[in-house]
This record gives sequence, C-alpha cells and structure tokens, in this order.
Amino acid sequence: MTSAPHPHGPGSGSGIVLHSLGKRFRIGPAKTVTALDDVNLSTPQGAFVSLIGPSGCGKSTVLRILAGLETPTAGDVTVNGTPVEPGHQASGMGIAFQDPSLLPWRSVRRNIALPLEIQKSKDNGIVDELIDLVGLRDFANARPGQLSGGMRQRASIARALTVRPRFLLLDEPFGALDDMTRQRLNFELQRIWMQRSATTLMVTHGISEAVLLSDYVAVMSPRPGHVVEVVHIDLPRPRTAETMRTPAFHEFIDRLSALLFSPDAQGDDHAGSDGR
Ligand SMILES: Nc1ncnc2c1ncn2[C@@H]1O[C@H](COP(=O)(O)OP(=O)(O)O)[C@@H](O)[C@H]1O
Ligand SMILES: [Mg+2]
Repeated sequence: MTSAPHPHGPGSGSGIVLHSLGKRFRIGPAKTVTALDDVNLSTPQGAFVSLIGPSGCGKSTVLRILAGLETPTAGDVTVNGTPVEPGHQASGMGIAFQDPSLLPWRSVRRNIALPLEIQKSKDNGIVDELIDLVGLRDFANARPGQLSGGMRQRASIARALTVRPRFLLLDEPFGALDDMTRQRLNFELQRIWMQRSATTLMVTHGISEAVLLSDYVAVMSPRPGHVVEVVHIDLPRPRTAETMRTPAFHEFIDRLSALLFSPDAQGDDHAGSDGR
C-alpha cells in the first residue's frame, strides 16, 4: 500500500488540478459561509479520483466549480490542462449527479441522445453502443418512469458518456441505491471507465466504493473543506469481488477510515483556515 500526499508521477498535473481553491457563500446581507479553504489536488490525466469527506465539507461545491456552475472566490482550477471558466462547461465533459434528472416524457434512448441533440452532433452509433454498454437494450424505448432506480442511474451515466467525455464528474451517482445494485453498478462503472479512460472525479460516501474504483482517493476535512491527504490505490485492475476480499483492500479501507476520523480531519465551522 502506498500513500501519496501529492502525486507527482509522469503525466501528473495534467488531469484535475485544484490550486488554493476557496469558496465563500454569501447567506444574507452580512453573513458568509466558507465552504472551501485552500483546497489543493493534482492528479494525472485519465485517473479515476474519488473525493470523500463528511457531509457539508464542500465535495459537491468542488464538482460544481469543475463543471463551471459555481465561481470560486480564491484559487484556480484546470482540467486536462485547460482552465475551467465559470459559467462555461468545458467541452468533452460528462456529468452525472445523484438525482438522474431524466426527462420523463422522453424514451431512455432519446434521453441518452439529448447531449448530442444539444450539441447538434451526429449519433454515429454511439447511443446504441452506450445503451448496450450499460445493459439497457431491452429498455431503450421505455420511459424513465418505467425503470428501476438502478436502471435510471445507468441511463444517466450513459447520457454523461454520449459526448465521449475526456472528463467525467460523478456526484454520489449510486447514493440512492441498495447495496447489491450499487456494487453491481460499481463493477459496470469500472468496466466503462477502463474502456474509455476519461479523467474522472467521483464524490462518494462509500469508502469501499472509493477504494474499489479509484486510482487516488482524496480525503477532505469537515467545513471549511480542504484536502487532508490523497491516498494512491495501486491495486491491480480490473478489480473484482475477489479483490474486495484481499488484505490490501481492507488495509486501504482502514487507512481511509483513520484519515476521515483523525484529529487532523476534524475541522471547526468557525475556523478560517485548516485549524491544524
Ligand atoms: N448555494 C449555496 N449557498 C449557500 N451555501 C451553500 C451553497 N451551496 C453549498 N453551500 C454550503 O457549503 C457547504 C458545502 O456544501 P456541499 O458542497 O454541498 O457539501 P457536500 O457535498 O460535501 O455535502 C455547506 O455548508 C453548504 O451549506
Ligand atoms: Mg454533496
């Protein structure tokens, strides 16, 4: 097991780079909330990175900044070498958030095709390819309301992949699912990611899910959130149910649990900085 506070291998710095990132929200005429304070992260291009941390520590805020949906109040962010511009979604970005937000009146196929229609790009068979990839062929013409929760999540991940993303953002994509469905979708996501090699950032509450899927797991402190440590998960791929029974897998889980519950990771709502 290796632990890399700041990974600096070949290609490092060209994936996701968060540099001294800060975000304060104004919540009333004279009050602000510091969601993020001096967040630093640097990962290689094509890596699968998970972000874990207590509820309210700013994980979704990091993703929303990366998606161009929120403007940082300090620092800067680049993805695959390109600076993220607030109000502007980078090209080649796929996003799947916890609530699949499929359009109820459109079929699964037409939901998955939506990003292509918006971009006015040609299908070239990718929609069918993705429907097969996420195992929804028999449901391609069904409406979202006719699908199970797991199927809706798979449709939402397929939709995020239609633009052939070089950069994938996932915010608790399986958060609302039962454990069995979640584990099956984790293996499917790994398979999809291994085929497509997009730089990926996934927010999750599941430590075991983070270890299973990630090359790097970034642990955040409570609000104001910052990255406490980045753990390099160097388990061989593809990772299987067998991998989950190995001592190495459990050592990573123990290490991440210790970081999440360590005094270093215990923030203070009123502290301006990381409070170490
Ligand atoms: N639009 C907003 N306005 C005010 N405060 C916000 C807004 N978005 C998030 N926050 C605050 O920022 C902090 C981090 O939120 P969030 O990024 O959603 O955390 P997480 O995803 O880790 O649970 C929370 O305290 C939350 O209340
Ligand atoms: Mg969140």
